Amino acid sequence: MNILGIESSCDETAAAVYSESGLRSNVIASQAVHRKFGGVVPELASRAHQQSIWGVTRQALNEASITIEDIDAIAVTNGPGLMGALLVGMCFAKGLALSHKKPLIGVNHIDAHIYANFIDNEPNYPFLSLIVSGGHTRLVLVHDFMQHEILGETRDDAAGEAFDKTAKILGLPYPGGPLMDRKSRTGDRSFVKFPQALLSEGYEFSFSGLKTSVLYHIEAIPEAERGTYLELNIENLSASISHAITEVLVKKTKKALKEFKIRDLVLAGGVSANSMLREKMHLLAKEMGITLHIPNPVYCTDNAAMIAVTGYHKAIRNQYDDALKLEAFASLK
Ligand code: KG4
Ligand code: ZN
Repeated sequence: MNILGIESSCDETAAAVYSESGLRSNVIASQAVHRKFGGVVPELASRAHQQSIWGVTRQALNEASITIEDIDAIAVTNGPGLMGALLVGMCFAKGLALSHKKPLIGVNHIDAHIYANFIDNEPNYPFLSLIVSGGHTRLVLVHDFMQHEILGETRDDAAGEAFDKTAKILGLPYPGGPLMDRKSRTGDRSFVKFPQALLSEGYEFSFSGLKTSVLYHIEAIPEAERGTYLELNIENLSASISHAITEVLVKKTKKALKEFKIRDLVLAGGVSANSMLREKMHLLAKEMGITLHIPNPVYCTDNAAMIAVTGYHKAIRNQYDDALKLEAFASLK
């Protein structure tokens, strides 16, 4: 069975082919057009998807050495994401499905981040999943395929947003998360003690206070000295901020693993590429004697391999959608 996956929910246009023997191709076109704006511009994202979606899909088919006729079903992200961006992928996938008489499968982008862990191996159900992306931060108990129980989520900023927004305060370009990760590797984590919010409050998260605290810290430095201070301490500040974010994620995850006696932990979303988070989660897994699953960094950030693999697991359970009725949705209910 060959599944073509298509992803266009934000600023990556992606296509991939997954079959029962594994991933056959994975093509991603990242949109550089947003960089000078310091964030994703929705209309520019839609236009860039429109320009590259056919080329990216053709390349994914070529790299898998198959044609569209060899595809058994088309899986496409139908939300959450930027509505205009989603519609480019959806309309393209629907057109392909209807014209080539292939079944269509709508895939929730956040679910797909979780099932990215099934590309290279198979976590055992039930497992705990920590989803940390640019738009979401959630702890979810996954009882079985698509049987998700949300334990808690963020009240304000997502973990990825916390990385990006604090990186911006430090003067790093967008998206700051990966850059802050690199800087933090040689920094001192205890240089500044930034706040770790809601530690005693169940499984909810809050990262907006951290952003304010970083801003106040920088504004407390006399303006004439700020540039030099940032230049000298960018590694230490990056490490201290990364420490505050990852400590909260690790502590809440540990609490859930204990409370629900879960043996498999699955990380998902762009922030699971973060090296400090990966290091701390490996230590946690060792301490608790559980199995940790983290996708290869290429499958942590937005990609279509995760859409294709989720589509595959839906297809083998006959979970298809009607191409004429499948709708896009911008946010999670
Ligand atoms: O999952 P993703 O690619 O897109 C969404 O669905 O949101 O996540 C993107 C987020 C961005 O905020 C980005 O800065 C963050 O993930 N990110 C990282 C790293 N790589 C990506 N944050 C910290 N360290 C990283 N290595
Ligand atoms: Zn994502």
